[in-house]
Amino acid sequence: MAAPTIQDILNWLSSLARGHYPEDCLYEGKPENAATGVLFCWMANAGARQAALDSGVNVLVSHEAPYYVTRNVDPGCPPPEEWQVNQNIKQYYASHGVAIIRSHRTLDAYCIPRLFAEHLGFPAPAVREGYEGYDFTLVYDLPRQSFSALTAQLGKKMQLATVRASACDPAKPVSRVGIGWGGVSLSTNLQYMEKLRRHGVEVVLGGEVDEYALEYYRESGMEWIELGHYASEIIGLAATATDLARRFPQLKVECYRDAARRMAHYAL
Ligand SMILES: [Fe+2]
Ligand SMILES: [Fe+2]
Repeated sequence: MAAPTIQDILNWLSSLARGHYPEDCLYEGKPENAATGVLFCWMANAGARQAALDSGVNVLVSHEAPYYVTRNVDPGCPPPEEWQVNQNIKQYYASHGVAIIRSHRTLDAYCIPRLFAEHLGFPAPAVREGYEGYDFTLVYDLPRQSFSALTAQLGKKMQLATVRASACDPAKPVSRVGIGWGGVSLSTNLQYMEKLRRHGVEVVLGGEVDEYALEYYRESGMEWIELGHYASEIIGLAATATDLARRFPQLKVECYRDAARRMAHYAL
């Protein structure tokens, strides 16, 4: 059987979700080229880019954006394509002949929040709502327990030494939780958190939480537990890599796990 082309990989990825999302496409590389292998990653950062070269694969599939961007860049600031970091990334793809595909909302719709909840040992969702199969409202009823017991249990499941969480009464009993996996619990996505609140969610499970969002949680009467943006999404990315390997058994498929990406905590 002939090696799959990059277009074959694109077609397979777009078959995973009912919706089609403009950010999910080929950013660098030629679709007609044969794929020598695929490396899935949460971000196509320097470590992932080097790992692709070390493994001899010529396709990266990244969940987050391949270039660093911000919305609404002021006219006084150079546009993102002129930033040093993005020029270095562009140079990498040009000189190594590696292709980069983003698969963002496609993989969120396909499996990422569902597999995060399964990893945490949750039952079937009590509420599952969304749009064209993208279920961004996911609510679970857990056995009633104290907030501190829930925090400890989830931290252990994610193999965390410490857990960042809201400063409520640790003995507060909670049972209804909502998923704010990845960056869904950030302030840029508060609309989805408000949907969780309307379903009676007591605790939001991120992902990551910024301080603007945590003020919203406090004023909305919801607690939050932060389990990690990368950590909550890499589970689904690894599963997708396994699924692609099943679809193209002759293709080398790997998932880049970026332990060194994690930040350090300093005791003062
Ligand atoms: Fe995501
Ligand atoms: Fe994300």
